[in-house]
Amino acid sequence: MRSRIRHKKFLGETLCLLEIEAPSIVSSACPGQFVMVKVGEDLDPFLRRPLGIMEVSGDTFTLLFEVVGRGTRALSQKNVGEEIDILGPLGRGFTLSPSLGILVAGGRGMVPLYFLASVFQKTGVPFVFFLGVKRREELVLLEYAGKFSSVFWSCEESAPGGFCGDVVRLLGEYLTSASVPTGTRVYACGPEGMLRALRNLELLRGLPVEVSLESLMGCGFGVCLSCGVEKENELGYHHVCKDGPVFLLSEVKL
Ligand SMILES: Cc1cc2nc3c(=O)[nH]c(=O)nc-3n(C[C@H](O)[C@H](O)[C@H](O)COP(=O)(O)OP(=O)(O)OC[C@H]3O[C@@H](n4cnc5c(N)ncnc54)[C@H](O)[C@@H]3O)c2cc1C
Ligand code: FES
Repeated sequence: MRSRIRHKKFLGETLCLLEIEAPSIVSSACPGQFVMVKVGEDLDPFLRRPLGIMEVSGDTFTLLFEVVGRGTRALSQKNVGEEIDILGPLGRGFTLSPSLGILVAGGRGMVPLYFLASVFQKTGVPFVFFLGVKRREELVLLEYAGKFSSVFWSCEESAPGGFCGDVVRLLGEYLTSASVPTGTRVYACGPEGMLRALRNLELLRGLPVEVSLESLMGCGFGVCLSCGVEKENELGYHHVCKDGPVFLLSEVKL
């Protein structure tokens, strides 16, 4: 589907936000789903790039991505008014009705959790939002996550007002004193190291933890088999594009 860029903004040096007109994506997208974006006009780069949906509003949806290579650089060079070819929404999203949601984002992993938190806010589901970044520059993300009332943030470089260290340690400190009702779910997206640290956090034992995974993707809809992630308790692979990208942390080998 060809969709027009309505708004574009850089956040710091490496993050780019695009608001894209696409009523059919807006009307059907769920938190945790993603789109496959054709970043070049010809065959180069050939493969579409997977990006999470951050927000839907009116007739537009928002992408926020880090410029890490050729594809994301090409996308960041598109201008307002240009059309891009987008496939989606794709994949399986998050479970939507916990008694309390504990959201844990690492860096750009904020994207799908921001959408989830917006839905929780609209539907009256209580939640707390943890955002962790490695570098001070990434605190620009607080321009968005900071709009929620219960936000805790950490930075691995010292930064006034936040927790100095990683976000899983910050979550650990919160859990030692918080009361966690039955029906609480944890939702996480971020670097693999963060997800592994969550798995090892004793205080989370017994709570379901849903994680949104990033993997290399060829097609985005179950055909090319390039997005396998090993199953945890049985032989074989899940396919991140169609079985996920959201999985229970206990289902996947990281
Ligand atoms: C379901 C899903 C949702 C995603 N949502 C977002 C998002 O909201 N914002 C965002 O910034 N990024 C997101 N990503 C990651 C994003 O797809 C990659 O960063 C992007 O495809 C890199 O393309 P590139 O051509 O710029 O980089 P390349 O030149 O292809 O590679 C540059 C670096 O990025 C790594 N990389 C490449 N593709 C991926 C990938 N699919 N996942 C993770 N790392 C990759 C490579 O290993 C390499 O280290 C998501 C990935 C998935 C699977
Ligand atoms: S990306 Fe092709 S099967 Fe998952």
